[in-house]
Amino acid sequence: MTIMEAIKARHAVRSFTDRKIDSETRTALIAVIDECNAESGLHIQLICDEPKAFDGMMAHYGNFKNCCNYLAIAGRPGSDEAVGYYGEKAVLTAQALGLNSCWVAMSYSKSKVPCKLSSGEKLQIVIALGYGETQGIPHKSKSMGALCRTDDSMTAWFKAGMEAALLAPTALNQQKFCFTLKDGVVSAKAGLGFYAKMDLGIVKYHFELGAGKDHFKWA
Ligand SMILES: Cc1cc2nc3c(=O)[nH]c(=O)nc-3n(C[C@H](O)[C@H](O)[C@H](O)COP(=O)(O)O)c2cc1C
Repeated sequence: MTIMEAIKARHAVRSFTDRKIDSETRTALIAVIDECNAESGLHIQLICDEPKAFDGMMAHYGNFKNCCNYLAIAGRPGSDEAVGYYGEKAVLTAQALGLNSCWVAMSYSKSKVPCKLSSGEKLQIVIALGYGETQGIPHKSKSMGALCRTDDSMTAWFKAGMEAALLAPTALNQQKFCFTLKDGVVSAKAGLGFYAKMDLGIVKYHFELGAGKDHFKWA
């Protein structure tokens, strides 16, 4: 599965089978996580075969079932956009490796996550991983026109970027972001909402993949 195919195939999945993540898949995922950590200064950690964080009431209310694997993303305050960007890179890699996922800000027990924190770091969010009972379903989406502005006619690469951004996960499916194209330069802004800055990093990563990084510059 290519990364573009992964963008289309990915949907939030909260119920997982008992199948363990095999060592080859773990190694491939860890290679990308190491790359992300080196580039971003974040501290993304793969935690496997550890059910406690998804055992409690919060996970129950969030409809999580049998989640024993997840990414714990630690970072310094102010790292929200990078958390979104690099976390989504890990999510799409996981999808391409045959795994399912769900970003999780609230529906887990933070204190039960056995991640390592360096000084100044906090656990920002986790991403549930595993082999889903289903592949999930596409989310309802706002229209493209509601989420972008262009100076003149929309170029093909901008449209492809927006199509990829519309498929991105956002907290509560809020899609509170806006992309603007002006003189070949793209800017992306977060609206007001829970985790909107993290969402912005996620949608920017999707936009880059859809549009192709060579076609434009970020403002
Ligand atoms: C930053 C962020 C936080 C999220 N937190 C939770 C959560 O606490 N509990 C949950 O069940 N889903 C959570 N989600 C999953 C979203 O509800 C889901 O991605 C959204 O409804 C869009 O659906 P999709 O992922 O299938 O495209 C979160 C997603 C993001 C991006």
